[in-house]
Amino acid sequence: MTLKDALFSCQSRVNSFLSDYMKNLPEVSPVLREAMTYGVLLGGKRVRPFLVYTTAELLGGDLKVADAPAAAIECIHAYSLIHDDLPAMDNDELRRGHPTVHVKFGEAQAILAGDALQSQAFEILSHARMPNELLRNQVEMLAVLSRGAGYQGMCGGQEIDLDSEGRLISQEELEKLHRHKTGALIESAVLLGTLCVPEVSDKVRSALVAYSRAIGLAFQVWDDVLDIISDTETLGKPQGSDIEEDKSTYPRLMGLDNAKKYASDLADKAVAALDDVPGNTDLLKQFARYIVERDH
Ligand code: IPE
Ligand code: IPE
Ligand code: MG
Ligand code: MG
Ligand code: MG
Repeated sequence: MTLKDALFSCQSRVNSFLSDYMKNLPEVSPVLREAMTYGVLLGGKRVRPFLVYTTAELLGGDLKVADAPAAAIECIHAYSLIHDDLPAMDNDELRRGHPTVHVKFGEAQAILAGDALQSQAFEILSHARMPNELLRNQVEMLAVLSRGAGYQGMCGGQEIDLDSEGRLISQEELEKLHRHKTGALIESAVLLGTLCVPEVSDKVRSALVAYSRAIGLAFQVWDDVLDIISDTETLGKPQGSDIEEDKSTYPRLMGLDNAKKYASDLADKAVAALDDVPGNTDLLKQFARYIVERDH
């Protein structure tokens, strides 16, 4: 299967799970449900679900088991984007080619939609019916997702990001920022995939973690590069937002060409880490290159 087909099939799979889930929510607040649905289902590459499904499949796991962790991590990601765009954070008005949730529904509703999508992630994951031999892993999945999302992961990184606006930080600090705000959820996605099978050797898990850390950092370095070299229509979010907000980014730290080279070196490092993983790792290898070649 080509990467394009695999990405498309993961997108369809997780979208159909999430769309059914949203449709079946009981009637509490139609506005909140609409804002959540808009934030989670309107566009998006579904990179994190792809990593859950592809890692699970590589290890011989069942895609049905991977549905809940894939949908859960996408809910966390969608929440992080809704809050990231708020006026108090990056203050952006376009996301995935549409007005951001706070522009469309109001700021308070966007805060609540993010909050509710975050809880929904844990609801989906804790309620999923997993086979008996995976029940312990299901608890571990909850631990992995909460860690990747919170203080030790995305939220911690987002605060460092805000604190780093308007000043020059060292490469070490910038790496810490990127590894938390973006890398942590990408690593969680791969770990969730490994937890879809009862047993994974330490060697294979370590190799997959090394892969996920390299692509996680590469993903955000390339996101920084795209903010400069792409355009708003292709990105579906405002080009130049980082410059506008005076963000600490890789191109700012090391120059555009060096940042591109760094992203590409990280993709090579990710591919090399897969040497220790048996089975067909072609899709994960192609994905590492895609991360640093994508146009949005
Ligand atoms: C954007 O993530 C925010 C970052 C963490 C860099 P994606 O590039 O995965 O955004 P979508 O989900 O495809 O819109
Ligand atoms: C986003 O980083 C990281 C998140 C946790 C959402 P950015 O602020 O660079 O993401 P974009 O460029 O707005 O998508
Ligand atoms: Mg941001
Ligand atoms: Mg942003
Ligand atoms: Mg960005």
